[in-house]
Amino acid sequence: MVLQAIRYYPARESSAASLEILDQLALPHRSVYLSVDSCEDAWNAIRQMKVRGAPAIAIVAALSLAVELSRARTIETKAEAGQSAREFIWNNLEYLKSSRPTAVNLADAVGKLKAIAEKAEKMDGADGHAVADSYITAAEKMLIDDVKDNEAIGKHGAKWIRENTKAGSWRGAGEGDLKVMTHCNTGSLATAGYGTALGVIRSLHAENMLTHTFCSETRPYNQGSRLTAYELVHDKIPATLITDSMAASLLAREGDSLAAIIVGADRVAANGDTANKIGTYSLAVLARHHGVKFLVAAPRTTIDLWTATGTDIVIEERAKEEITRMKGAKVDAKGQVLMDEVAEVISVAAADIDVWNPAFDITPAALIDGIVTEKGVVERGVDGSFNFASIFESTA
Ligand code: MRU
Repeated sequence: MVLQAIRYYPARESSAASLEILDQLALPHRSVYLSVDSCEDAWNAIRQMKVRGAPAIAIVAALSLAVELSRARTIETKAEAGQSAREFIWNNLEYLKSSRPTAVNLADAVGKLKAIAEKAEKMDGADGHAVADSYITAAEKMLIDDVKDNEAIGKHGAKWIRENTKAGSWRGAGEGDLKVMTHCNTGSLATAGYGTALGVIRSLHAENMLTHTFCSETRPYNQGSRLTAYELVHDKIPATLITDSMAASLLAREGDSLAAIIVGADRVAANGDTANKIGTYSLAVLARHHGVKFLVAAPRTTIDLWTATGTDIVIEERAKEEITRMKGAKVDAKGQVLMDEVAEVISVAAADIDVWNPAFDITPAALIDGIVTEKGVVERGVDGSFNFASIFESTA
């Protein structure tokens, strides 16, 4: 079974396009697909984290509007003016952009899709259908491109680790004694497929280079224990789960054989400062202390050249209940998980305690050794920051 967070069915002659997402609140215990019929459905699913991960959020938002346009197209008999279709698209894109603030992929997709709708409106004789069709084609392409980009990220990252880390270079390919660690979930569930940081791990595993992966629980929302662990078990990649607070002990014990810590990103500023899941910064500090390489893996759509440094990135703060409560499946008297039982929510904190729950932190560029993109790995310069000119030159 292929792990798929997003299922999209393009329009056919007899039916409009449709979209489904794997409900990530139900994982790892139940696989439930929810249909997303409108931009409002997508906005709510993103805000509630039924779908999460920077690329997946952007793609679900873009495709939800494609579904709405596709439905409107089959219902209406008379084409609307190009201008009103463009306005409809722009308004909905702005609404979708307001769902979560930190990941730039959504804002990037909104900017690109708005430009496509505007260009279509300005074409000679363009009516509402032509504008909608241009939008739908572009949104569908984002889904396809994301998987290709992730596979390229996987290959570039695996090659860099082979060639630039102590654990990678002192053994030939195929003999691997190479361990890595990752944080949060950056795999098939966070993207259209394959994943970014988890894509690099998949690639190392496919090349028979990887002996072990450590994944952190990723409190408070547990993307590591619920989602990454689920993907690693699914792909039969040898792996061990640790709590976030065990990372220092792990690096003290495994520092020599741990080739790299590889994480994803929600927004990379122009100097390389990186916003990613809370806890990433502490892992980067630990990696530097223990001489372990620290890599960020992300598509170019995550690099925000308009944001100068990490201090300019807005960090989303989420509800206190994500810290004070936990949700999980029930277990029977023998310790077996009761998969079909409704998940239980339990309180794990003193009532009335004040809570601070930032969903992301900023890792300074100076602590990052390389940023792995679909165009190759950009290494930190001697001045401690990154220059992304080489990976954007080819895309004028
Ligand atoms: O709050 P989330 O689960 O959306 O946070 C996800 C992350 O921080 C990921 O590391 C990032 O989005 C990259 S996903 C390829």
